[in-house]
Amino acid sequence: MATIHPPKFPRIDFNQPELTGKELKYIAQALEYAHISGDGQFTKLCQKLLEDELGTPRIFLTTSCTHALELTALLLDIQPGDEVIVPAFTFVSTVNAFVLRGGIPVFCDIRPDTLNMDEWLVERLVTPRTRAIIPVHYAGVGCEMDTILNIATQNNISVVEDNAHGLFGKYKGTNLGTFGRLATLSFHETKNITCGEGGALLVNNPADIERAEILREKGTNRSRFFRGQVDKYTWVDIGSSYLPSDILAAFLYAQLEQRVEIQAKRRRVWKYYNSHLLEWANLNGVRLPQIPPYCEQPYHMFYMIMPSLEIRQALIRHLKAQGILSVFHYLPLNTSAMGKHFGGKPGDCPVTERVSDCLIRLPFYNNLTENEQSQVVETIQNFSL
Ligand SMILES: Cc1ncc(COP(=O)(O)O)c(C=O)c1O
Repeated sequence: MATIHPPKFPRIDFNQPELTGKELKYIAQALEYAHISGDGQFTKLCQKLLEDELGTPRIFLTTSCTHALELTALLLDIQPGDEVIVPAFTFVSTVNAFVLRGGIPVFCDIRPDTLNMDEWLVERLVTPRTRAIIPVHYAGVGCEMDTILNIATQNNISVVEDNAHGLFGKYKGTNLGTFGRLATLSFHETKNITCGEGGALLVNNPADIERAEILREKGTNRSRFFRGQVDKYTWVDIGSSYLPSDILAAFLYAQLEQRVEIQAKRRRVWKYYNSHLLEWANLNGVRLPQIPPYCEQPYHMFYMIMPSLEIRQALIRHLKAQGILSVFHYLPLNTSAMGKHFGGKPGDCPVTERVSDCLIRLPFYNNLTENEQSQVVETIQNFSL
C-alpha cells in the first residue's frame, strides 16, 4: 500500500478543502451501483439539484470550468478571426477556450470598485467581427448585466458568463449564470463547493441543449442512444470528452447537499475579516471589497487592495514569516506573452494592471476559525506600511 504523507501545512493555510460529511459514503455508493464513468446516478442528481436551484433549463457537469468554457466556444461555432470581448483581469481559461478555436481576444479593462469588466468600455470594443462577450463575476460579485445584455442584444452578440467564482451569487435578485446564452461553473479545490477538479456548463437557451449534449459526448449521439431515442449511436458533430467520472459527481453531490451550511460558514469568515479590518484599512489607504447593494455575493474570497506593489509584496512576506499564507491573483492578460501576441500592451488596461499589482487574498476556507482569523488580522495590523 502506498504511504502518503500529509503535506506540512503552514500555521494558517490559504485554502483547505472540507469533507462535509457524506462524500466518502456516496463514493462507496457509486462503486456499488457499478457505474463510475460519466453520466451515472450522481451526475444526474447534481445536475437536477443545480437546475432546480438556479432555474436553468439544462446543466451538464464537466471535467472543469476550463472544459465548460471550451464547450461554449464550440457551441458558438467560434471561427478563426472571430473576436471575443474578455476582461483583462481573469484566469487564462476564460480566454484560451476561444483562442483554441482561432478566436481573437479583445481585452476590456475592469471597474475599480467590483473589479468586474467595465461595462461602459464594452461598447467601444464591439466590431462587426465580435461574436461574444464574456463577463467574469469576480469573487462572485455580479457584473453589470443589464448594460452588458443590452449591448449584446443590440449588436446580436452572445453572452457567456464565466461564473467560476459565483455559484449562488445573485445580481438584482437573479442567479448569476442565468443571464447569458451560456454560463460556466468551477468545482476546483479552491471553490466554495468542490470535487477537486470539476465544472459545469449552464445552457440557458433550450435551442442549444441537444447540441451541447452531443459536443460533450465526443460529438456522438450516445446520450440519445442510452435514452432509447435511437437504436445505435454514431459520430454526428465535432466534440470531445467532457464528462466527469461519477465518483467525482458523488463527492460533489455530498457538497451540494451541504450548500446552505457551506455558504453560512463562508459568510461568517468574510464578515469577520471585513468588520475587523475596516478601520485599519481606512486609516492606511487600503481598499476592502465593495459589494453593490443589489448584488448578493457567495462569499468566495476576501481580498484587499494595497497602496502599491512593493507594499503588497512586503505584506505577503510579513504574513509568511508568521506562517500565514496569502496570495496575489491574476496577472493582466493584455501584458502576458500571449496577450502581446494578440496586440495587447502595457497601459491598455490601467485598472487591471494596478489591481493585479496591489491585490492580496487572505486565507479563506469553510473551517477557518475565529482564532485563526484573529491571528491573521493581528499580524496585518502589526505590519507597518
Ligand atoms: C474566472 C475563472 N474562470 C475559469 C477558471 C478555471 O476553472 P477550472 O480550474 O475549474 O478549470 C478559473 C479558475 O480558478 C477562474 O478563476
